[in-house]
Amino acid sequence: MIFEEILNKVLKTNSLTENEILELLKTDKPQKLFAAADKVRKKNVGDEVHLRALIEFSNICKQNCLYCGLRRDNKKVDRYRLEPETIIDLAKKAKSYGYQTVVLQSGEDPYYTSDIMSQIISAIKKFDIAVTLSIGEKTFEEYKVYKDAGADRYLLRIETTDKDLYEKLDPQMSLENRKECIQNIKKLGYETGSGIIVGLPGQTLESIAKDILYLKSIPVDMAGIGPFILNPNTPLNDKVKSEKLKVELTANDQNNFELALKVMAILRLLMPDINIPATTAMETLNPDGRMIALQSGANVVMPNATEGEYRKLYELYPGKICVTDTPYKCRFCIESKINSIGRSISQGKGNSKSKEIL
Ligand code: 5AD
Ligand code: SF4
Repeated sequence: MIFEEILNKVLKTNSLTENEILELLKTDKPQKLFAAADKVRKKNVGDEVHLRALIEFSNICKQNCLYCGLRRDNKKVDRYRLEPETIIDLAKKAKSYGYQTVVLQSGEDPYYTSDIMSQIISAIKKFDIAVTLSIGEKTFEEYKVYKDAGADRYLLRIETTDKDLYEKLDPQMSLENRKECIQNIKKLGYETGSGIIVGLPGQTLESIAKDILYLKSIPVDMAGIGPFILNPNTPLNDKVKSEKLKVELTANDQNNFELALKVMAILRLLMPDINIPATTAMETLNPDGRMIALQSGANVVMPNATEGEYRKLYELYPGKICVTDTPYKCRFCIESKINSIGRSISQGKGNSKSKEIL
């Protein structure tokens, strides 16, 4: 099938085969794909943009993912963890700036036991704000404790569904366990967010097509798609540079940016009513990255609500945006950017529409 036929098919049926996805990923007419996703976004989730205040509360991680600056073996990062009261205070401030959701994100830091997390969650829930967790792989029981304490949503990216690549890049972790965690999150009734990194060394377009079908099969309520950004303080740096890993996609920032936009747009066509964030990594690679994403299928932005030096220290990849800004500045800066493209900030909690109809 040619590009136009595939586009027409997905607009009618919200479904695609792996080969059809592959054709869309390969297109040299991405603007048509982005425009179609923008239209579907407008029709199904409207012009409002949901803001989520991101609180990066600990950069300590027991995992060792080869692409990530927070990996356990990276000695070049000053580690921090915020006290529960500080986290609660940041959430309170976020609410006072008009946010209706906070996202609590950290490395996999064992300091925050289920008890501590549930105290933090229930204290924040008193501010009448939605709580999203993004704190990694846990047991079913732990996920249940957080849910019982009031957590509404959970983000756990699958990163890639290519088993060999996953287990090469995330040593000591397994793809099966990751999938099981996502199933458990779904089973417990969280609004379930997942997603992938696009442009990982060794990742193929075929595997990305499979990733997209995996996200649809869950089905996720939210899909976060980030372009891969090479971190010089990770083992991937040497590997990419010495080309030991077979690089089938060019590990090139602008390629990764465009490819990530394509993945996002395809997800919007396949899953018209889910929440899709314009990710920070997109803005790192392109100064207008998040606004371009909002015009190619996205409907969510997650401004940083972490304070002070910690913003800089939470460095998954280099060139992170807004590291010297305050939460207050980010809140109002993003609002004016969003207004400048003719969109408005949602006043509601922004629950996934896909969840509402379940
Ligand atoms: N480039 C892009 N995204 C990254 N992440 C971690 N390291 C990188 C990188 N070098 C992403 C992972 C993780 C999320 C919090 O950050 O997808 O799930
Ligand atoms: Fe830890 Fe997540 Fe980074 Fe992996 S991607 S090292 S689990 S913070």
